[in-house]
Amino acid sequence: TPAPDIRKGLAGVVVDTTAISKVNPETNSLLYRGYPVQELAAATRFEEVAYLLWHGELPDAAELAAFRAAERAGRALEPNVKAAIDLLPTTCHPMDVVRTAVSVIGASDPAADDASPEANLAKAERLFAALPAVVAYDQRRRRGLGVVPPRDDLDYSANFLYMAFGEVPDPVVVDAFDVSMILYAEHSFNASTFTARVITSTLSDLYSAVVGAIGALKGPLHGGANEAVMHVFDEIGSADRVVPWLDEALASKRKIMGFGHRVYKNGDSRVPTMKAALDTLIAYYDRPDVAELSDALEREFVARKGIHPNLDYPSGPAYHLIGFDTEMFTPLFVASRVTGWTAHVIEQAASNALIRPLSAYDGVDERHV
Ligand code: CMC
Repeated sequence: TPAPDIRKGLAGVVVDTTAISKVNPETNSLLYRGYPVQELAAATRFEEVAYLLWHGELPDAAELAAFRAAERAGRALEPNVKAAIDLLPTTCHPMDVVRTAVSVIGASDPAADDASPEANLAKAERLFAALPAVVAYDQRRRRGLGVVPPRDDLDYSANFLYMAFGEVPDPVVVDAFDVSMILYAEHSFNASTFTARVITSTLSDLYSAVVGAIGALKGPLHGGANEAVMHVFDEIGSADRVVPWLDEALASKRKIMGFGHRVYKNGDSRVPTMKAALDTLIAYYDRPDVAELSDALEREFVARKGIHPNLDYPSGPAYHLIGFDTEMFTPLFVASRVTGWTAHVIEQAASNALIRPLSAYDGVDERHV
């Protein structure tokens, strides 16, 4: 028998079709339902992008108004979710909190196991509306602060930041945050989305798929990279320390967080848009030191390795400037990517085949007890 064709990490393997997004590394482009992500970031709000990912079309004015009203109605932190969060130690990672919160929300949904497209869409909208309060409250409780109830007069991103910080930031800040939410929303068969699809393929429920996806996103090779970037910035300290820091990091074979991508080898198509948002925040908060450090590390690393930054490189410092604690960065990614994950759950369920690959055995030969 010929040796099996093993693709470690499923690198280069096409697993299925999807109509949700198209990643084209050759042209450095990312389309959500056909729309370039840069155009969506420039011309729409995150609520419209969420609607687009689920429905395949941007909402018209009436559809958007109805969708926003439903989102506003589901924003408050449910008492049972708050009680569950309060049981978790503040020493645990916030990704553990958001993972637990989704589990609690699912456990209290009587329709959790209804896998019809309508029921799954309702669950997706429920999580979309509920997660900002989870993330905002978790950061606040870690700072010894209480819940800030949502405000009905604010859009998704303004309300998210209001619940986190107790005040509505300048529109410049809200816009930059909204752009990050749009850019994080969807990215084809990445590790967490594929996890969600594997779980869905067993006919398990949407909440289980999202819980599993959160587990996959937590790792620093995936979503955990945005907080890892900030730890690297803290470690380096200032632009003049970049060269000695990089010498040592590369000598000890460290992976530099925020650089490299499985699919994009010539740069991540989302980076210029997020970099522009970061630059706006740097100007607004008057923090040229952040730009100097970020630019110096990028210049030096690209010159030495030819490996380009990914989305987590500009989004990490952007979330830092907005005022989020570093460990909250990946939960912010969850609040956005839950839209893409759930769109994939619905798509997988609609044309399901159990995902069950093979392995080649390389253990000891058959033996007998
Ligand atoms: N720092 C140092 N070397 C790197 C890096 C990096 N960030 N990325 C790739 N390389 C090197 C790697 O060591 C390897 O070198 P060699 O061939 O000499 O062993 C070569 O480039 C190929 O890397 P790979 O890890 O085999 O490639 P991959 O396609 O499996 O890696 C990756 C993709 C994202 C896991 C990797 O680039 C990485 O670990 N990056 C750092 C973590 C990160 O920023 N993750 C976020 C990914 S994108 C957005 C998201 O999901 O949130």
